[in-house]
Amino acid sequence: MSKQLIYSGKAKDLYSTADENVIIAQYKDQATMLNGARKEEIQGKGKLNNQISSLIFRHLMAAGIKTHFIEELSETEQSNVKVDIIPLEVVLRNFTAGSFSKRFGIEEGQLLPQPIVEFYYKNDDLDDPFINDEHILFLGIASEEELAHLKAEARHINEVLKDLFSKIGLTLIDYKLEFGRTSSGEIILADEVSPDTCRLWDAEGNHMDKDVFRRNLGSVTDVYQVVLDKLKALG
Ligand code: TMP
Repeated sequence: MSKQLIYSGKAKDLYSTADENVIIAQYKDQATMLNGARKEEIQGKGKLNNQISSLIFRHLMAAGIKTHFIEELSETEQSNVKVDIIPLEVVLRNFTAGSFSKRFGIEEGQLLPQPIVEFYYKNDDLDDPFINDEHILFLGIASEEELAHLKAEARHINEVLKDLFSKIGLTLIDYKLEFGRTSSGEIILADEVSPDTCRLWDAEGNHMDKDVFRRNLGSVTDVYQVVLDKLKALG
């Protein structure tokens, strides 16, 4: 059976394969914000994010983290283990920024004494609301053990990513992760890890991430190319 489109997302299209446990993610040249209210075609972004995300997944796996990444198939495609996505955006913050700064009225760029984990309920109709542990249990999204696992994984991933980005002169301000359950019920890291899903600041405080798009700060692809080149140079 040839590949069939099974899901068309904002940044990726997902295809089934002959193997029911494997999907292909095709990274698209699209940037969206405000739940898709602003949408733009950005030529070359899919290629950059596929490469950056592949590189980061490989790095995380080498550090012992279980992810859905299998193989980079082409400039814009990678194969992934098929999972049922847990409908949570797991956000981890090392510094104040974005919605955290807005919500609490705190200037961006303050170092948090300890990383803070937040959950958002992935639900487009509800605009992905902020959600706490008890809501998650009430809604049956994850069990108490699974929640503990998600937080521990997010913190472990944080140590690995902070170290990786610091080696290329970038500070990992915050990021969003998604996890999924495999056919055997194991929870593994899924979706993507890229400048679309992380805030990365360079030593001068320049935004090396999707805030370039969100805040109209210049060329998204120029900035993502710098991140990719620096990661590649690490070997
Ligand atoms: P926030 O400050 O807007 O809550 O975003 C926190 C981090 O999570 C930031 O690095 C961007 C990332 N993020 C996504 O990748 N997708 C999303 O839908 C949201 C809300 C945030």
